[in-house]
Amino acid sequence: MCGIIGYTGHRPAIPAIVEGLRRLEYRGYDSAGVAYEEPQGLRVIRAEGKLGALDQKIAGLDTASSVCGIGHTRWATHGLPVERNAHPHMDGDCRFALVHNGIIENYAELKAELMAEGNVFHSETDTEVLVHVIAKGVDLTGDVRRGISWALSRIDGAYAFALLSREHPGKIWASRKASPLLMGIGTGENFLASDIPAFLPYTREVVFLDNGELVEIDAGSWQVFDSLTLEPKVKEVKHISWDVQAAQKDGYKHFMLKEIFEQPKVIRDCLTGRIQKGRVVLPELDALDIPGRLTIVACGTSYHAGLWAKYLLESWARIPVQVEIASEFRYRDSVFLPGDLVLTISQSGETADTQAAIRIAREAGAPILGLCNVVGSSIARESDSVVYTQAGPEISVASTKAMCSQMVLLLLMTLSWGVRKGVLQGDILERCLHDLPLLPDQLEAELPTIREKAKTLSQGYADARSFFFLGRGLNFPLALEGALKLKEISYIHAEGYAAGEMKHGPIALVDQHFPTFAMALGDELLQKVASNLQEVQARGGRIIALVNPGAAPAVEDPWVLPDMWGPLKSFLVLPAVQLFAYEMAVYLGKDVDQPRNLAKSVTVE
Ligand code: F6R
Repeated sequence: MCGIIGYTGHRPAIPAIVEGLRRLEYRGYDSAGVAYEEPQGLRVIRAEGKLGALDQKIAGLDTASSVCGIGHTRWATHGLPVERNAHPHMDGDCRFALVHNGIIENYAELKAELMAEGNVFHSETDTEVLVHVIAKGVDLTGDVRRGISWALSRIDGAYAFALLSREHPGKIWASRKASPLLMGIGTGENFLASDIPAFLPYTREVVFLDNGELVEIDAGSWQVFDSLTLEPKVKEVKHISWDVQAAQKDGYKHFMLKEIFEQPKVIRDCLTGRIQKGRVVLPELDALDIPGRLTIVACGTSYHAGLWAKYLLESWARIPVQVEIASEFRYRDSVFLPGDLVLTISQSGETADTQAAIRIAREAGAPILGLCNVVGSSIARESDSVVYTQAGPEISVASTKAMCSQMVLLLLMTLSWGVRKGVLQGDILERCLHDLPLLPDQLEAELPTIREKAKTLSQGYADARSFFFLGRGLNFPLALEGALKLKEISYIHAEGYAAGEMKHGPIALVDQHFPTFAMALGDELLQKVASNLQEVQARGGRIIALVNPGAAPAVEDPWVLPDMWGPLKSFLVLPAVQLFAYEMAVYLGKDVDQPRNLAKSVTVE
């Protein structure tokens, strides 16, 4: 996830672009850059780090006469977050400058082909390949629009890009497929951007571009075409009434809600390029031996994702797994065995305890695999191999979409190792690879209903001072996560428990003021959970239970979720517990995005 912007008009382009980038910084912030027109050609300025670094570089330059340019704020997906990988990128002759958001899946093949033709590359990015392919297209067709169209017919993957051409001052071309891009229509000026806030101070007139559209703008006009046939398209201009803050949250009231609703997209992005021809493609695992034993180390929500994966890894890949809280692991005198692999899971990649665990594993000589969201973060850099979750920046302090992305990747890792070991049953693999790509649409369709139910139930239980969250099997880690979410944003005391463990002590707490949130889905453990819930009811405890149609135990508040196959059920349970906590916090008037006493990235012990 990156932010792109383009401006062409009558005012100095660079200040408008940098201001726009500042409003897009929530989309990524590891490097930034701009390209603009100068009398002698296109000029590119790029800087590693947050926008301030780019600001400083630009400060010494005279950019005032340039009225057309493009800009980018980066969330690295290919290549480290260093200046040479920052956008814009140029073709070999510096005729074109391009900013891009997305992933070109077949960039390696294209790059090899272009290199064989004598092209030289200066970065590890897929974007530099894209601008070279476009330059080649323009040479072959003799026209920028036709050249872009030719290039797009050769590209697989997701993109939104904006392109400047040295030979056509004042013009910008852009196109999108599966990454956001819109146009802002001003008076004597036009904008392109990943998101509305980028140009909201200048215009509220917006054209939403659809997949497969190509646009050409200059200061006074804009035209939209089908990117492959180049047939012109008629587009509606819409008036936007949001303010900047609301627009950054895409109209959602809180980042947490936005991020919960982004989960279908997150799953889609996680799967992109990773299931091909009935196989899981995770080259990051290829360099490592199949673990004889896996030690997963993480904190908080990431720890819960690890616990969830343990059930699958043991059952489907037959790999013994231990899941460790990093702050405990770092001070234990753990025993390492030959064949051990340490898997660290971290959204931020900066959590101090998890980093310390890496150092311990390193001293013990164990190979380290990282599962991280932030490219180039400390944990990513210190691991021997990294799988990126590609969930995009998570702004809300309470982690939501990161866990969803971790679960998808951990499921794919399980399948990959299970196949490599030859222990995974074919029907499980087939079913998983068939159902996983369908999951994003199914989840998208269900989220509004889940939210409505979460709202009603949370209001009915808002007087509770304590909650149990109970589950068994894969639902036990989700119970822990449900309890964590509720306590961290609504400040209601909550305990997650393995449902069968209640009778060993905690059940003493149950009375009519201490409700239970249970996961009682239609799986092989349902009867066991149902018995545990009867024990709770016998003590006067009220129960909300996530259930599947037709298989529900009798409780006060059944919450019916559509049935999904096997572990995919978890991808509906997760947003249900997230939204229950969210709606509870909103109802109680708490600060959802910045709960008290917490920080997004815990870089201290
Ligand atoms: C809970 C939450 C934290 C983090 C934990 C680990 O909502 O956000 O529990 O999950 O601090 O953070 P990462 O994954 O960045 O290592």
